[in-house]
Amino acid sequence: MASIQLRQVKKTFGPVNVIQGIDLHINDGEFVVFVGPSGCGKSTLLRLIAGLEQVSAGYILIDGNDVTHAPPYDRGLSMVFQSYALYPHMSVYDNIAFSLRTQGMDKGSIARRVDEAARMLQLGDYLDRKPKALSGGQRQRVAIGRAVVRNPSAFLFDEPLSNLDAALRADTRLEIARLHKQLGSTMVYVTHDQTEAMTLADRIVVLQGGRIMQANTPYDLYERPDNTFVAEFIGSPKMNLMACAGDSAQHLHIANGPTLEAPAFHCATAHQIGIRPEHLSLCGADTALLQGSIEQIEYLGADSCLHVKREDGSMITVRVAGRSRCAPGETVHLTAALESVHVFDVAGQSLRR
Ligand SMILES: Nc1ncnc2c1ncn2[C@@H]1O[C@H](COP(=O)(O)OP(=O)(O)O)[C@@H](O)[C@H]1O
Ligand SMILES: [Mg+2]
Repeated sequence: MASIQLRQVKKTFGPVNVIQGIDLHINDGEFVVFVGPSGCGKSTLLRLIAGLEQVSAGYILIDGNDVTHAPPYDRGLSMVFQSYALYPHMSVYDNIAFSLRTQGMDKGSIARRVDEAARMLQLGDYLDRKPKALSGGQRQRVAIGRAVVRNPSAFLFDEPLSNLDAALRADTRLEIARLHKQLGSTMVYVTHDQTEAMTLADRIVVLQGGRIMQANTPYDLYERPDNTFVAEFIGSPKMNLMACAGDSAQHLHIANGPTLEAPAFHCATAHQIGIRPEHLSLCGADTALLQGSIEQIEYLGADSCLHVKREDGSMITVRVAGRSRCAPGETVHLTAALESVHVFDVAGQSLRR
């Protein structure tokens, strides 16, 4: 097991600054997820840790040792890719055993390790099969098995579930969580899927444009986003953002809406409020924070999303339990508890951290 430390890590490809100075300490045994939109630098950062790319500046330490210029095989890490990268002509057993054989490990030890990994990943019945006779989920489990037998000090995953359909993705996600619990290994996991990030991570690192926007527990990111980027990125459907103005008398004036008393924080520089769809609820006209007319209703089974158009033309999303009794075209009044209202300044930074 290992801790991984990044100090002012930068990476440029030609003139493009892809990673713009990352400082991050990943603790021994921690499950850290890098999440962010496509192209934000997640894979590059993982490849820098793996040693598959060289940093342009900064340092990488594993267990306190400087590995900035160490080749991948000296770092003691195992990487699992989205494309399973299995050898098609080899059986599952041989695929998993391959790296141990090249290390010159004796047959008995190899058999023990492969059997243990196969048991852990429920691949015991498939050891004689070739990859083409496996489902996508089983292939990815073989790729994970290949990483497990190497007994790495940390696992690096790059979107390992992206090629799987929704049901398999959910199953394999649980399997990875179980594996982390069982092995207690440090895991660094890249995904663009916020459900994976929320469910797997001890700590989520939200990246945008090669910078860390916030790094914290799933709960803290959801409850206390530092900025509008994280506020909108975490949570689905995403947080509603609306213009507002604040004054030094602790009043928040919502555009086309009422004025709120905001005693809990300094709101003179308030510029936008944010309310999550699930924190809005229907109410009477007299207590309304917002109002608008329903344009569309999406019924999802356990809940429904109401897409509401406000008077100024902006759209907000409201999430209600079960099937809504409302109908498109209907005017609705909405309220939210003041504690659930996020407030951001003109730079998008939270005023209520
Ligand atoms: N080898 C490379 N040469 C040039 N540009 C690259 C290379 N690898 C990645 N990039 C660029 O770096 C940015 C980040 O890429 P990547 O780390 O793959 O993003 P993500 O995994 O978050 O989608 C992208 O704009 C991508 O085009
Ligand atoms: Mg990527």
